[in-house]
Amino acid sequence: MIIVNKIAEMKAAAKEAKMRNRTIGLVPTMGFLHEGHLSLVRECRKSAAVTAVSIFVNPLQFGPKEDFKQYPRDPGKDARLLEREAVDYLFTPDEREMYPEGYRTTVEVAGLQDKLCGSSRPGHFKGVTTVVLKLFNIVRPDLAFFGQKDAQQAIILQKMVEDLNLDVAIRVLPIVRDRNGLALSSRNTYLDRKERQAALVLIKSLTEARLTFEKGERKSATIIRRMKDLIMQEPLARIDYIEIIDLDELSRIDLIDRDVLVAVAVYIGKTRLIDNIILEAKVN
Ligand code: PAJ
Repeated sequence: MIIVNKIAEMKAAAKEAKMRNRTIGLVPTMGFLHEGHLSLVRECRKSAAVTAVSIFVNPLQFGPKEDFKQYPRDPGKDARLLEREAVDYLFTPDEREMYPEGYRTTVEVAGLQDKLCGSSRPGHFKGVTTVVLKLFNIVRPDLAFFGQKDAQQAIILQKMVEDLNLDVAIRVLPIVRDRNGLALSSRNTYLDRKERQAALVLIKSLTEARLTFEKGERKSATIIRRMKDLIMQEPLARIDYIEIIDLDELSRIDLIDRDVLVAVAVYIGKTRLIDNIILEAKVN
C-alpha cells in the first residue's frame, strides 16, 4: 500500500492508472476504521482495479460546537487495517493541503442539504459535498463507495454527481451492525457501557417501525408515534428527529404508498447517533 499525503502525488498516481486503463475505486472516510468502512473497501477491491481509500477528518463538515477536535483518530491502526485489505493507495492529506490559506470555494446541493441532519447540523452537508468533490477531482475515481448508514449523505452526493455531470458511479452499501444491532460508527467510541446499551433504542425503534408496517399500518404518523413512545422509555435518549421520507426528495410521506426511508437521529447522553431502514411498499 502506498501512503500519499500530497494532492499532486495522488493526482499523478490517478493519471498513471487512467493511462493504463485501470478502473479506480475510491472509499472516502474520516478514519478510525471499523467493519462498516471495511465492507466498502472490500467491495471496492472486488469492483475496481485500483482501490484508493481517503482518510481526512474534514473540518468543513463540523459545526463550531461539534466534535472536530475530539473526533477519534488512530492513523497507525487504520493503515494496518487497510494494508491487510490490500488497498493500493491510502490518501491522507492534512488540513493545509486540502484547505490552504485563502481557500474559498464550496459546493451545495440546495434543499436536500437542509433537511433531517442538515437542520440540526447547518453547513454540515456543504462541508461533505465540497470535500467529496475535491476528492473526486484528485483521485478521479470511476466508482465511489458510500454506506447506507449515512443515507442522506449518499442521496445528496448522488444528486451532486448527477447535477454536475461527474463521471463517477456511486455505490451505496448496506449498514454493518454489531451483534446487538447497533450500527457501527466511529462515534460509538464516545459511549460508555450504559450508553451503549441505551443506544440500542435506535434499532429497536426501527424494528418496531418495520413490524408495524408489516402488520399493514401505512400511516407515517402512527408509526412515528410508536417509535417515539419506545425511545422515550429510555432515560438516556433524547430524540433529535424521526422522519419517514421518500428516497429522492427526502420529503415527508404521510401515507406510505412507495418505498420510504425511516430515519432517526437520537442523542444518547451527549453523543448524537443516526440510523435508518428502508420500508418497501410492494405494488401488487
Ligand atoms: P465516515 O463517517 O468515516 O464514513 C465513511 C463511509 O463509511 C461513509 O460512506 C459511511 O456511510 C460509511 N459507513 C459508516 N458506518 C457504516 C456502517 N455501519 N455500515 C456501512 N457503512 C458505514 O461519512 C463520512 O465519513 C464523511 O462524511 C465523508 C464521506 C468521508 C466526507 O468527509
